[in-house]
Amino acid sequence: MPRTPPRRYSPYGLPLVGHTLAFRRDPLNFMLRMTRELGDVAPAQIGPAKLLFLSRPEHVRRVLMHKDGNLSKRTPVYRALARFLGRGILTSEGDFWLRHRRIIQPMFSKQRLARFASVMTRAIEDMLARRWRDAIARGDAFDIADEMTKLTLRIVVETLLGSSSTQDMEDLDQATESAQRYVQTRIGNVLVAPRWLPTAINRAATRGDATLDRIAYALIDDRLSGQVEGGDDLLSALVSARDDEGRPMSRQQIRDEVVTLLVAGHETTANALAWAFMLLSRAPDVIARAREELARELAGATPDAANIRRLAYLRAVVSESLRLYPPVWVTGRLVLEPTRFGDVTARVGDVVLVSPWISHRRADFWTNPEGFDPARWMTGERPAPYTYFPFGGGPHKCIGDAFGLLEIMLVLATLLPRVQLDLVPGEPIIPDPMITLKPRGGVWVRARAVG
Ligand code: HEM
Repeated sequence: MPRTPPRRYSPYGLPLVGHTLAFRRDPLNFMLRMTRELGDVAPAQIGPAKLLFLSRPEHVRRVLMHKDGNLSKRTPVYRALARFLGRGILTSEGDFWLRHRRIIQPMFSKQRLARFASVMTRAIEDMLARRWRDAIARGDAFDIADEMTKLTLRIVVETLLGSSSTQDMEDLDQATESAQRYVQTRIGNVLVAPRWLPTAINRAATRGDATLDRIAYALIDDRLSGQVEGGDDLLSALVSARDDEGRPMSRQQIRDEVVTLLVAGHETTANALAWAFMLLSRAPDVIARAREELARELAGATPDAANIRRLAYLRAVVSESLRLYPPVWVTGRLVLEPTRFGDVTARVGDVVLVSPWISHRRADFWTNPEGFDPARWMTGERPAPYTYFPFGGGPHKCIGDAFGLLEIMLVLATLLPRVQLDLVPGEPIIPDPMITLKPRGGVWVRARAVG
């Protein structure tokens, strides 16, 4: 029998640019097509990077667990992100990461989350009363994705940093937007402009940097000088943390963690909510069932961290929405030692990628993978390990998963019984895979009061 040599990079790439053009045009479909055509280990060349898309559960597990030191988070995307986030827990590794993760982890304890729930609910009520009241009365269209970004930013700033300055929120919103654009241009772009070249994107990124510094350092300095009491929020934990030799964290280190949580902690949740609202507004039977559960289980009580646990169907809606539209649609690791995945060896310098967008759509693990069917989560069966991972897995699993889920549940449980969101007919809503998966151009809706 003739022996075929082990497959390396796929035949579909063009000379020099490889798959860069196809990937940049439509990354989500590109990944799906590659995986469907080439199988569980799909190689591609994007810009200067050699990539392997992996979607077999055992491969996903190996990538996310990576305790063995053969894989690292120093991918081009994480390096570009580090320009803004510095060396916070999202962009660091090893002992440094572990020490900081241990300082930050208690911020997300059950008791703290229960207290954060009231801040979240207040922010949601405030949005309804102040920002949405007129739009509801007049029937004006608005972008629910933008509203959710403002809401989740406010929540993360108030709960973790103890600030409620509206000007800061607007500036932060713009700064994170320019950070995303900057990182985006550095992914898979063979002709990327060097950082010093004053292109529009580089200039916006420099302004974004300065904004993040200004806001983070002002908050930190207020706290360090003792002028502002922070109670037991994240900033207090970071300011009072000491290492084994009793040394405090530097201003820069605190800044990096603050900015990391701001950036990682709001866009993801905002996008999860935008997609959930889009799916719900197309599924009246699902909304009806969720409302019926809310009426039965909460009977008009204010949603909080305890009573939302009774909302099994609403939780299923959230799981299903995160399956179809995972805000972190792909993540990668740099290969430090040759590592075999199936019949392909990833070489030093390659990047291995795992994508919830692909794994959550594999027809061998999901029936009707493209359908929005929350009922699939009500059978008591859990998906097989590493076929569903909207929050990643292993040691770098999302630190804010419970925080984000609480926020999403509280928003839905507060809004669904009171407002009906109808999509404005018109353009289709297209997923835009930036650093997080956003709806391109937003999700435009009209709201009406229910009941
Ligand atoms: C629906 C909302 C969210 C989703 C889908 C999500 C998703 C993820 C994923 C997939 C990772 C792992 C990335 C990797 O392994 O490369 C991650 C890490 C992380 N997330 Fe989230 N996230 C969400 C909300 C949040 C929130 C609310 C916070 C903070 C308030 C947060 C902070 C972080 C941090 C700091 C990390 C890095 C953890 C580490 O490496 O130790 N995330 N997130």
